[in-house]
Amino acid sequence: MTDLAKAGLLLELDHENTVATITLNRPERRNAQSPTMWKGLEDLGRELPETVRIVVLKGAGPSFSAGIDLRLFTPEGMPGEPAVLSAGVGPEELVEKIGEYQEGFRWLRDPRFTTIAAVHGHAIGAAFQLALSCDIRIAAEDVQFCMKEPALGLVPDLTGTKPLVDIVGLPRALELCLTARVIDADEARELRLVERVVKADELDDAVEELVNALLRIEVGAARATKELLQKAPGNTLEEQCLAERRAQVGRLLRNS
Ligand code: ACO
Repeated sequence: MTDLAKAGLLLELDHENTVATITLNRPERRNAQSPTMWKGLEDLGRELPETVRIVVLKGAGPSFSAGIDLRLFTPEGMPGEPAVLSAGVGPEELVEKIGEYQEGFRWLRDPRFTTIAAVHGHAIGAAFQLALSCDIRIAAEDVQFCMKEPALGLVPDLTGTKPLVDIVGLPRALELCLTARVIDADEARELRLVERVVKADELDDAVEELVNALLRIEVGAARATKELLQKAPGNTLEEQCLAERRAQVGRLLRNS
């Protein structure tokens, strides 16, 4: 089982173990992220009890998360973490390593779960990408998204570019990334980066309201519907119609 404290994560299970709330819990560093945190997230995706169908991700303290821990890019590094760039590591090895980091983000797409990001304060770089990895984003009025990577000479590489382009379109995604500017709550709502904006002290209640609404849908129907909707953007109408038929047959014959 993952050492959650070491990964800077907290886990709570509610609603008879059907809802997992994962808190990024390094508030003194604005929940800055590290490979150990991403491994912890990946492990959680595998280790959550079978009963879990909803995952809520949130941040402790004043920010959702300030993105990657910038000490990883310094010669001194981050205590307890291997340096991102260590001597002698070749390009293919690095590609593989980043692939491992991405696993901490990818599992949030699993149709087994409906995933919700409850975002407040800063959501910078890796944190913006983590929120984009979730199915639904609810934000507090003080939210500030920023795709900061290009401003640091990098690219966003933690699975966020696809959902960003899917949601806002290529021209806006380019503008947001290539200026690395801050997106406030009003704009995030306009761009459909968030489904709802609430007052900061109402964020937990808004998430609970959504969780309760989601729990009213039968779990198998929720999973099959997420899987079906995920296919829609990449499918032709013909392919999607077939996917609908197959999914429906799966539902209709589920007890036979
Ligand atoms: N990595 C490491 N430490 C961090 C990070 C980070 N990304 N963000 C904040 N911290 C630390 C600060 O160094 C500070 O530590 P200290 O108390 O020991 O000095 C503490 O967290 C609090 O941060 P402040 O800057 O004092 O908090 P403030 O609320 O004024 O500002 C903000 C918050 C805007 C998030 C600012 O900390 C910041 O700009 N952080 C860096 C953001 C960034 O560039 N992230 C990388 C994006 S790219 C990517 O994620 C791949």
